[in-house]
Amino acid sequence: MSRISTKSWFDRWSNEYDRTLGSIGFHRALLDLVVKNSGVRSGDSVLDIGCGTGLLSLKFLEAQDCVITAIDNSENMMAIFKDKIRRLGIGGNVTVRTMDAARLTFGEKSFDRAVSSVVLHHLKEKVRPLRGIYKVLKPGGMLIIGEVDMDSTGSHRDSGRLERMLKPLTEEWVAALDDAGLEAFTKMYENGIKHILNRGEYCLSLEQWAGVCRKAGFSRVTVKRVPHYKYFGIVAAEKTTGKA
Ligand SMILES: C[S@@+](CC[C@H](N)C(=O)[O-])C[C@H]1O[C@@H](n2cnc3c(N)ncnc32)[C@H](O)[C@@H]1O
Repeated sequence: MSRISTKSWFDRWSNEYDRTLGSIGFHRALLDLVVKNSGVRSGDSVLDIGCGTGLLSLKFLEAQDCVITAIDNSENMMAIFKDKIRRLGIGGNVTVRTMDAARLTFGEKSFDRAVSSVVLHHLKEKVRPLRGIYKVLKPGGMLIIGEVDMDSTGSHRDSGRLERMLKPLTEEWVAALDDAGLEAFTKMYENGIKHILNRGEYCLSLEQWAGVCRKAGFSRVTVKRVPHYKYFGIVAAEKTTGKA
């Protein structure tokens, strides 16, 4: 498998994304869990970090009349989302921008909610980007991260690490085949190998994510798992009112 950048990986995946990962039941369940635990209210400003083809943003708009700013660094993924926005006539509620999740350029205290699903594990360094997210949240604002619960730290030569990673990956591959067919299985298999080799993928357990959130300044950090698929879940964290 050749080494390509994360941006090129998603640029190439974009046309198949919605019928592969986007069609697997546990991914849909993860998006629902993010929305459900966000406490989003009508009129809230929501930052969707790594929006891709817009699946999470669209779930937020189904749930609440909020105002979404969606960022990503893959032009091709965003092109698909922009096309959906045009077709659905929801341009008044969503703005899509090219931006690196690790270098947000928004002003301080801009958003009520920052949300992200299966994106932040692409960042090798975690605490500094999360401090960046903390800054752009309003006091009382919340971060909700949807992620795979998979600790990929350690040496590639450690068989214990591989054994640990194969549990979530195997369940993911079976679900891909069951829910979305051979194309999805093949894509998720390739994706899994990238995870094992840490090629643009640096996954943590949900508890490790909770620790990163605390280090970045967040409080009231909680972890919840997707029903019927224990390897996907969310970490919700609050920017306590009054903190800078
Ligand atoms: C697995 S997809 C998830 C998309 C969407 N959140 C969802 O759940 O369907 C990961 C997305 O993160 C984006 N991404 C990865 N690294 C990024 C970065 N450093 N900055 C911005 N976007 C990034 C990719 O381009 C891709 O669209």
